[in-house]
Amino acid sequence: MAKTSSTAKVRKLQEAPILFPTDLGEKASKDISAAMDSILADVFALYLKTKNFHWHVSGPHFRDYHLMFDDQGAELFAMTDPIAERVRKLGGTTLRSIGNIARLQRIKDNDADFVEPSDMLAELCQDNIHLTARMREAHEICDQYNDTATASLIEEWIDQTEKRAWFLFETSRKIDSAGH
Ligand SMILES: [Fe+2]
Repeated sequence: MAKTSSTAKVRKLQEAPILFPTDLGEKASKDISAAMDSILADVFALYLKTKNFHWHVSGPHFRDYHLMFDDQGAELFAMTDPIAERVRKLGGTTLRSIGNIARLQRIKDNDADFVEPSDMLAELCQDNIHLTARMREAHEICDQYNDTATASLIEEWIDQTEKRAWFLFETSRKIDSAGH
């Protein structure tokens, strides 16, 4: 009887929607998790768009763009696991499905049959700039709660995202006849 009772207690604890205890507190956990889950949805959306363009790009710069989009896609995908695990370390829950991503993403999909290569560069550049802005907002939330670990991860990701935007912008520049 005692054994059943303690098993039931453990089950109840396992089923309860309590957050993993951290010194940051429940409100910090909820607020930072919500911000980072939205960032994660944006990163997945941008990852897939970048790969979409990697697969569908055409034209005289095919090789350069195809390779650059692949590098950028790999960088975005590498962000996903650390973001999700950071949320779990804070006691939050993270994304579970493609549908979950679709409900949270702020980066718009591009399902067009054909996209001009120059439009691919411009759209990805803008998306990366938007992602930077969203990460700055998340960083402010982390600062409010003194969550230095999430903040320092975000700082590195902002640098990577700004680098992607820079590469996309410079690649999209038109050169004049003098080569400038
Ligand atoms: Fe590929």
